[in-house]
Amino acid sequence: MKVLVIGGAGYIGSHVVKELLKNNHKVTVFDNLSTGLRMNLFPQNDFIHGDILIPSEIEAAFSRGFDAFIHLAAFKAAGESMIKPEKYSVNNITGTLNIMNAAVKFNCLKMVFSSSAAVFGSPQYLPMDENHPKNPENYYGFTKLEIERFMAWYDQLKGMKFAVLRYFNAAGYDPEGIVHGLEQNTENLLPRVMEVAIGRKSGLKIFGTDYDTRDGTCIRDYVHVTDLASAHVLALKYLEENNKSLTVNLGTENGTTVSELIEAARRITGKEIKADNDERRPGDPACLYATSKYAKELLGWEPKYSDIDTLVKTTWDAYNR
Ligand SMILES: NC(=O)c1ccc[n+]([C@@H]2O[C@H](COP(=O)([O-])OP(=O)(O)OC[C@H]3O[C@@H](n4cnc5c(N)ncnc54)[C@H](O)[C@@H]3O)[C@@H](O)[C@H]2O)c1
Repeated sequence: MKVLVIGGAGYIGSHVVKELLKNNHKVTVFDNLSTGLRMNLFPQNDFIHGDILIPSEIEAAFSRGFDAFIHLAAFKAAGESMIKPEKYSVNNITGTLNIMNAAVKFNCLKMVFSSSAAVFGSPQYLPMDENHPKNPENYYGFTKLEIERFMAWYDQLKGMKFAVLRYFNAAGYDPEGIVHGLEQNTENLLPRVMEVAIGRKSGLKIFGTDYDTRDGTCIRDYVHVTDLASAHVLALKYLEENNKSLTVNLGTENGTTVSELIEAARRITGKEIKADNDERRPGDPACLYATSKYAKELLGWEPKYSDIDTLVKTTWDAYNR
């Protein structure tokens, strides 16, 4: 297929492009390089330096004619979204509507969208499935949920078929080491652990050690970015074969505690990684993990690289490069 990957120079996008090229798709990346990196582009993909907030630029891209598009361009810092909601309204919501309107104008009616576990808010039961109630607890999650709703309307009114992929915690780097541009502006744990391991930071804090979990620290569901990337390829195939929309969670059903992740990082890097216990942070649920039953059933998706050692090792390799 001829695929436009919006946000394809970013952390997840570059891994998605790698998998698309491997599966013989023809790829054009559209990105303003705000957090994306030029080093994440492949010689085999066309690149358009453009901004989704400028309708003429995104329209010019779609005018080249594509069978499908993957939309990953967004701001993603949940904490920041609570302080600067305007920034998230504009880039995430206005930007997405510009993309969807341009896609409709140029008849590109297959969309894969990067959604997030943040649409759910605190778990009411575990593992979280697709039907779990949606009560986002940060503005970032709200933007993702609103976009999911716009997509359902565009399906009904314009025949746009979509695949919503709700990522749980993306982590790791390309096991082959080809993509290794470091993720920018991340609030995630593993990059913070790595910053300490390479000596860029002196230590990190563990927020809460008295949760009702196996070692008292929070449990999260880490999914390797190459596994996330393969789900995009499978989603395109599904849209092409079925011409039907779908929404799936991408999790592993295996939670890892904060302490387990830090211990694995100490073992694999051989570094001390100083970590001090601190108070719980408001709004941090004890456990978050998902079942990906639909992704397995509908897409045939199985995580292959999401064990904790591969997550840590591939991240350490990327930081060492
Ligand atoms: N990283 C995670 O753990 C995670 C979890 C759930 C969902 N997501 C979602 O996945 C998507 C990709 O995340 P990522 O981790 O790769 O982030 P990222 O910041 O590395 O990638 C986003 C890309 O979009 C581009 N971009 C942003 N605004 C743009 C604009 N106005 N015009 C053109 N390009 C623009 C950036 O330059 C960057 O290349 C995002 O939508 C994010 O919300 C990420």
